Amino acid sequence: MELLIASNNKKKLKEIRDILSGLFTPVSLAEKGILSEPEETGTTFEENAMIKAKAAADLSGLPTLADDSGLQVEVLNGEPGVYSARYAGEPTDDEKNNRLLLENMKNKTDRRAKFVSSVVLVFPSGKTVSASGECRGILLEEGRGENGFGYDPLFFLPEFGKTMAELSPEEKNAVSHRGNALKNLRKKLEEEQFFSEEKKELL
Ligand code: IMP
Repeated sequence: MELLIASNNKKKLKEIRDILSGLFTPVSLAEKGILSEPEETGTTFEENAMIKAKAAADLSGLPTLADDSGLQVEVLNGEPGVYSARYAGEPTDDEKNNRLLLENMKNKTDRRAKFVSSVVLVFPSGKTVSASGECRGILLEEGRGENGFGYDPLFFLPEFGKTMAELSPEEKNAVSHRGNALKNLRKKLEEEQFFSEEKKELL
């Protein structure tokens, strides 16, 4: 069964595809010819994930998964949060976002941060299942590593002694907020009797 992934972020899409491969046949918006994206008007990751998943599910008629995610920095009261992609303005630019983050973190000694991901799965019947995941780390004073995307080069994982951008794609998926959210979603799908009909479509 095809599962539409409601994201145009190629790197995010690849991560989700890799994590879900073997479970579903993930297809992208581009592969289904869906070019429009809804405005992310929500104030939480879950609201925005729901907006994206519902819009693409309505257009495609397929079970659809969306992720909304971002970085929350302790000493910045949870910023950039839901504005992570547009932190330094639009059009979105990872390098500018990282520069602004470093500027706002200048002279800050508490450098704790976490990545957060909300994933929502919408079925053609209208039923939804959502889950979330996080990953905790420390912000460095300059970027390291070439892998991943977004804030990955600044996000240091003490247990690996590496930034998220220095991890291999497999290592990142095993510990990331998105990997954890998708694991939690899978657990929910396996547990919830309520969704038995919809699960038959997918599993
Ligand atoms: P979204 O596509 O609207 O959910 O925005 C996600 C934004 O959060 C991205 O543009 C990044 O700035 C940040 N982000 C989310 N996940 C990651 C990640 O795995 N690594 C680095 N940055 C991320």
